[in-house]
Amino acid sequence: MAAHGLAWIPYQPLLLGLLLIQQTAASLPEDAVTNLREYLRIKTVHPQPDYEAAKEFLVAYGKNLTLEVDVMEFVSGDPVILMTWKGSNPEASSILLNSHMDVVPVEQVKWRHDAFEAVREPSGDIVGRGSQDMKCVGIQYLEAIRKLQAKVFKPVRSVHVLFVPDEEIGGHDGMERFIASEKFSDIQVGVALDEGLASPTADYRVFYGERTLWWLSIKAVGAPGHGSKLFDGSAAENLLKSLALISAYREEEFNAYKSGEAAEAEVTSINLSFLKAGTPSPSGFVMNLQPSEAEAGFDIRIPPSADAEDLERRIREEWAPVERNMTYEFLQKNVYRSVSAEPLVTPFDVSNPWWAVFATAVEKTGVKLSKPEIFPAATDGRYLRYKDFPVIGFSPMRETPVLLHDHNEFLNEGVFLEGVDAYESIIAALSTFDGADGPSYALREEL
Ligand SMILES: *[C@@H]1O[C@H](CO)[C@@H](O)[C@H](O)[C@H]1NC(C)=O
Ligand SMILES: *[C@@H]1O[C@H](CO)[C@@H](O)[C@H](O)[C@H]1NC(C)=O
Ligand SMILES: *[C@@H]1O[C@H](CO)[C@@H](O)[C@H](O)[C@H]1NC(C)=O
Ligand SMILES: [Zn+2]
Repeated sequence: MAAHGLAWIPYQPLLLGLLLIQQTAASLPEDAVTNLREYLRIKTVHPQPDYEAAKEFLVAYGKNLTLEVDVMEFVSGDPVILMTWKGSNPEASSILLNSHMDVVPVEQVKWRHDAFEAVREPSGDIVGRGSQDMKCVGIQYLEAIRKLQAKVFKPVRSVHVLFVPDEEIGGHDGMERFIASEKFSDIQVGVALDEGLASPTADYRVFYGERTLWWLSIKAVGAPGHGSKLFDGSAAENLLKSLALISAYREEEFNAYKSGEAAEAEVTSINLSFLKAGTPSPSGFVMNLQPSEAEAGFDIRIPPSADAEDLERRIREEWAPVERNMTYEFLQKNVYRSVSAEPLVTPFDVSNPWWAVFATAVEKTGVKLSKPEIFPAATDGRYLRYKDFPVIGFSPMRETPVLLHDHNEFLNEGVFLEGVDAYESIIAALSTFDGADGPSYALREEL
């Protein structure tokens, strides 16, 4: 009901901000917040996410909004839910609004409330796993559509709201399979929105790319020997040489960030995840034996601006060279170039007219966008960028600490509702934009 109270103000920023604050407690749409809390209570948490319950909830939600709802299961138990708000021009490329349904586990003892109760504190903070990453966004898309429908807005381009499973474990059975499906080709995506991060400032953050993830394991072998024996080429010695080189590289990169020369997401980070050597004994390790194998594992994040080929050469020739009796293996190796051999970034200059439409729509709501950034971790957006689709990473949460994957993850309901207004403006603008089928995205036609 109260939604209609706001409907007369199209996108007048300041006024809207004020009203939001005043009406949060009284008569602003309870629905959006209630729906968010209900979604947060569904335990789509790894390692055993309840996708069945999420599917039931979302299908009913989509139907309530009179959207077409398609449920696909490329892998049994991993539903991909596609909702469509049909545009008046089916020839025009469409708008894809993506969110993932799954969330990461919690350490419940460190939370001030049950992480799956979606407790609303008197301040309006809603505490729950997924309140920032990224159930909020899924509900915001849908509630923005509800508001546009109430204004009898009609999209020209079709608007697709996509809910995928398993993003937090790599997206292989969710987004990756969906992108490879016929259904995906059929919907002819023009531009996609995917997750961003909360912003502690008064501006929204926006992301045009992400760092590529590699998990590397390096292993050294060498002759075993008595602990007292001095000899060259033991496994530990060979591995230690690598560790020294890797540490030096890490420090160099890290210093560029510490000195302010580069943003965190603009440097290659390489962090040790495991170190394995030694011969176990009932009381710990056999102490007078030099082991014949030693292994180390690293989490590596590579920004699109880095020379990943050179890094791979370094791994092969310096960090795990055969001459030092070493081998290496990638436990995970995400791509760092698109199908057309471009870096996996979405341009935000004039070559990408969608970007300007998006940015203008956000700024119409009275909130500024900060300088586009590289997302520090991996998102499902990479699968789309790999195929040269433009992807804008955006989660409208300002004046909010970044708490994804953290204890006591929360989102204030006023901030959440303001985000619904941001999407209302964005969806209206993107779905009626009458350009952007130009040469930069010609490749899309071939897919
Ligand atoms: C959507 O839900 C509302 C509130 O429960 C109900 O009044 C309305 O009729 C529903 N609309 C559809 C199309 O199911
Ligand atoms: C590599 O292994 C071979 C065979 O065990 C050994 O002779 C050689 O010294 C080792 N080289 C190094 C650098 O450890
Ligand atoms: C990994 O190391 C980088 C520096 O290379 C640092 O910025 C980052 O925070 C580290 N990540 C973790 C999880 O420790
Ligand atoms: Zn996420």
